[in-house]
Amino acid sequence: MAARIQVSPALFSCTSILPSISRHVRRRNRSIHRLFSNESPPCGSASSSFVQAQRGFSFQEENFASSADFCVDAPLKIIKYPDPRLRAKNKRVNTFDDNLKKLVDEMFDVITDGIGLSAPQVGMNIQLMVFNPAGERGEGEEVVLVNPAVHKSSKKSLLYNEGCLSFPGIYADVVRPASVKIDARDVRGARFRLNLSGLPARVFQHEFDHLKGILFFDRMGEDMLYGIMSELKVLEKKYEDLTGQPSPENIDNHTQRQHFAGLAGT
Ligand code: CO
Repeated sequence: MAARIQVSPALFSCTSILPSISRHVRRRNRSIHRLFSNESPPCGSASSSFVQAQRGFSFQEENFASSADFCVDAPLKIIKYPDPRLRAKNKRVNTFDDNLKKLVDEMFDVITDGIGLSAPQVGMNIQLMVFNPAGERGEGEEVVLVNPAVHKSSKKSLLYNEGCLSFPGIYADVVRPASVKIDARDVRGARFRLNLSGLPARVFQHEFDHLKGILFFDRMGEDMLYGIMSELKVLEKKYEDLTGQPSPENIDNHTQRQHFAGLAGT
């Protein structure tokens, strides 16, 4: 989620969740290298399944990401709409090794223009998101959520002006529940639960949508979508110019997309 957000006073009056998540965050003064204690296969090696077998997991490999799926070519690049990786299925993670931690660190390095980032936005189709509501590395708290799930959403909804790093320069209002109860794993694999409200709830829901292949314009009303349609078409044209391929999406088919997001008729 992009950083330029119009934050209403009402949002900041919501209960802050930041103290409760402090156990699950990394602060700047804690070296990321201290976390790199687990052995992990070097990127490009074929030994990731061995690591998983060592840990006693039993699963169908195609349903879970392997350590090789975490390997990054640093620095990461944020992919833009309509790159099809933004709509691809994101695998669950059950290997918590150094490669995953390195990916998380690289994601925080490219989040500097935003406050939240999902793994598919850097071309990694796994169930991972990071965010820092402060929007600056070294300030605020850096939150890592692996395999997140929502188990309750508030009936109360809020309208909020959102941006997205995969849609540079585009901002529009989106309605989402005001608060959510979630569970997830941290970067070491430990399970935890959080009650999110205010800005963290907003950022979480935006990034959580990315993990389901849903983009923020899928949740916009017709009027709001109409207001950014020309900008979306510019991105589609840019994609075609860069890749020489037809755009995999056409904003003129947005009704189908709303249906995809489960929003048809709302
Ligand atoms: Co986004």
